[in-house]
Parts: sequence; C-alpha cells; structure tokens
Amino acid sequence: GPRRYLIGGNWKCNGLYDENVERINVFNGAGAIPSNVDVVLCVPYIHIPMALSLLRDDIEVGAQDCGNNTGDGAFTGQVGAHQLKDIGCTWVIIGHSERREGFGMAGEPEQLCAEKCKIALEKGLKVMFAIGEKKEEREAGTTMEVCAKQLEPLAAILNEEDWANVAIAYEPVWAIGTGLTATPEMAQDTHADIRNWVKEHVSEAVANAVRIQYGGSMKGANAVDLLKQPDIDGGLIGGASLQEDFFNVIRGVP
Ligand code: G3H
Repeated sequence: GPRRYLIGGNWKCNGLYDENVERINVFNGAGAIPSNVDVVLCVPYIHIPMALSLLRDDIEVGAQDCGNNTGDGAFTGQVGAHQLKDIGCTWVIIGHSERREGFGMAGEPEQLCAEKCKIALEKGLKVMFAIGEKKEEREAGTTMEVCAKQLEPLAAILNEEDWANVAIAYEPVWAIGTGLTATPEMAQDTHADIRNWVKEHVSEAVANAVRIQYGGSMKGANAVDLLKQPDIDGGLIGGASLQEDFFNVIRGVP
C-alpha cells in the first residue's frame, strides 16, 4: 500500500515475568523485519522496563493504556502518559474495546478515550486508537455509525498535525479472541468507510496518510489476505502476538 505498515502486538494481561522474558528471547531470534513495517509490542505496564532493556531495537515498546492525568498528582493506580514517555515507550493503545467495556467496572466512554489520546500525543507518544462494533451492531447494520460515534470526539479534540501520530485500529469486537476473523472483503469495506469518514470530517490529506490497522483474531495464516487489501495498513494482534506466529504476521505484509 501507499503507507508504511504498522503491526502492533498487544499482550493484554498475559505472562509472568520469566514467561515474558522468554517470549522476548523468541522474538529476538525470529529473523528480519521487512523495511516497510513499523513494529510495536504493547506489554503489561509492569514488564515495560524489562522489554525496553531486552527487546531487539527494531521493535518499539508500547503500553496498552494510560491515565487521563496530564502530569504527576494524587491519582492512585494511574500510569501517566508523561511517565510512559519518560521511561522510553513510544506508543500507547487507547480505547481498546476491553477498556471501553470495563471488565465489570465502569468502562471508558468515548469522550474519555479522545481526551486520553490528546494527552498521550501532547506528552510525545504515538497512539493506536481502537474502535469497532459489537456483533449485534454489525447485524443491525450500524457498524459505521458506531465507528463514527467513537471517532467524533477524537476529531473534535485533535488538530490536523496531531493525526500524524495517530493510527486507527479497527477491531470488530466479535472478532477479538474468538477465532472469527472478519473476511478480508468485510474488513476492507469498513476500512474504506472509516477512511472516507476521516476525509469528510478531518481532511483529505489526513485520510490519505492515516494508517488503519485491522484487529481481531489476526494471525500468520490469515494476515497475507488481510494485509493486501488497499485500506488495511497493518494489524493489532492479541493472541498470536504471544507466539512466534507474530512474525508470520509481520512477514505477511505485501
Ligand atoms: O488488541 C488486539 C485485539 O484485541 C485482537 O485480539 O488477536 O486475540 O483477537 P486477538
């Protein structure tokens, strides 16, 4: 495609220390990364310093979320974007559907996700901003309405220049961790709709430049067909990023 590919791994809340050191050792020995791909691995917060010191230099280290605080303060349990940047992270995922949902706690509303994204960018991080519809919403034909509702507060809060450091991760919730990957055609159609939305609500230049990643049961075996679609510029990979198969995804770029 016309854009550099972006492959993100999201380890979610997986792995004890030694297990994740071993995963990193496997990645370090997994061979070359094509020159047209940016690769970023989002590990659990607590393993970020370890990943920064042990992981090969051609994979960036990211976080899976950050707080909505703009600096130090009395925010028990938060991890601030300023702290992630300071320690050497370059990317953060914001608005993952699991965080929007909340694990039985209060989930993160659209406005909060947009604010976190703005703060992360101000602190110098790049953001994979995750959006996507649930199964009922796809069945009801409201996929793009849902994605637009998630993008609206973001478009309202970002400047045109901010978008240079944002990727959109389109992750249909029904495809996450289920083995039910969207077909390449289904994903391509939605990616094209999202890019068109960006064209109409941000600008044509941003629409042409912004990378849109697909996420949801992506793995080595289906990556090639997804990544050759014209509006699919990468992936955000959960389960398969815990395995060496992550490298089959990376090498699946056209
Ligand atoms: O952030 C990653 C997505 O939630 C996809 O997860 O590859 O395990 O389906 P998955």
